[in-house]
Amino acid sequence: MSLLKTLLHGRPDGLRARLRGGGGAPPAPAPFAPAPIVTANRASPPEAAEKALGLNFEAPKDVNPPDGYEVVLHKDALPEGQIIEIIIGGTAIAVAKSGGMHYALSNTCPHAGGPLGDGKLAGNIVTCPYHGWKFDVTTGTCPTQPSVQVRTYKVQVVGSAVCVEL
Ligand code: FES
Repeated sequence: MSLLKTLLHGRPDGLRARLRGGGGAPPAPAPFAPAPIVTANRASPPEAAEKALGLNFEAPKDVNPPDGYEVVLHKDALPEGQIIEIIIGGTAIAVAKSGGMHYALSNTCPHAGGPLGDGKLAGNIVTCPYHGWKFDVTTGTCPTQPSVQVRTYKVQVVGSAVCVEL
């Protein structure tokens, strides 16, 4: 996962980090610092690294998503057992791949706003990186606090595109 995040976000001290942060050393991590933003329609993806790895992370541009859906990822971009944060249409979602299926849920943990897309995925369960609450990515239910639920989004794979209904 760290390779994928490096490809999408760049190195912490790389050019993209300097462009995002205005130069200088990256800020020290804070316990509740917002996660970096990854957009599905990046204008300049790390093409060189993707081509070197034989991977295609670029969201397909030749797919017409169903009504109400947005293209968020290439269907092969996310390795099995991984989860990632994507900002699409101004909404932060976490997209997970488990059992060969893609799932989308709110990126915001209802406990204290942790970025679920930065959590660890084991089977269908993502663990929030802040305080460890667990969520089922297929239903949004929370085994840690059964009275809590996180929003899920419908997902369809159309051609080579993972599309999410927003
Ligand atoms: S923010 Fe506390 S468990 Fe997610």
